[in-house]
Amino acid sequence: MSHLPNRIYLVGFMGSGKSTVARLLAEKIGYGWVDLDDEIEAIEGEPVSRIFESRGEQYFRALESAALLATEGVDRTVVSCGGGIVLDGANRVAFPNLGTVVYLEVTAEEALARIGDVTTRPILAGAAGRIAVESILDARRGLYRIVSDFVIDTSGLAPAEVVESIVAALAAHKEG
Ligand code: S3P
Repeated sequence: MSHLPNRIYLVGFMGSGKSTVARLLAEKIGYGWVDLDDEIEAIEGEPVSRIFESRGEQYFRALESAALLATEGVDRTVVSCGGGIVLDGANRVAFPNLGTVVYLEVTAEEALARIGDVTTRPILAGAAGRIAVESILDARRGLYRIVSDFVIDTSGLAPAEVVESIVAALAAHKEG
């Protein structure tokens, strides 16, 4: 699959399946796989929820931007980004130079169902419920679309099916 971009970034809301899909996609196309939240947790030695608690969101966002920019040094890799990666304008500007960006679109209802335990997601702490998720998603939807080269509607799709859709979209793009 020589037509593939060197780096493929998955963006989208919490619960859109980015981490699972990134791993499966990487396995399928023989690429490496990086999850920015995992990178940050490895550097800091604690879970993202603890980093939010002890250092605050701004501190986390700085680490997130640094982790994103560091991916410039990896080849043939699928990168799974945290749901808030698009909030920082500098990250949005960086994306076109980093690689091809795929937005995994999900409804608020499906996102909530997939997230399950919202306490693992500090952004949702104290804001559980579909209405809250909907309003955060509404505020971000345009940003996900602006940064992405492709939008994949993941409604009702299993992760393996999402992978197939991504591969098909990348192949069609190359041919088109
Ligand atoms: C966040 C999403 C999380 C994580 C952090 C903030 C967000 O990643 O980076 O809790 O602001 O949407 P996932 O999208 O992988 O859950």
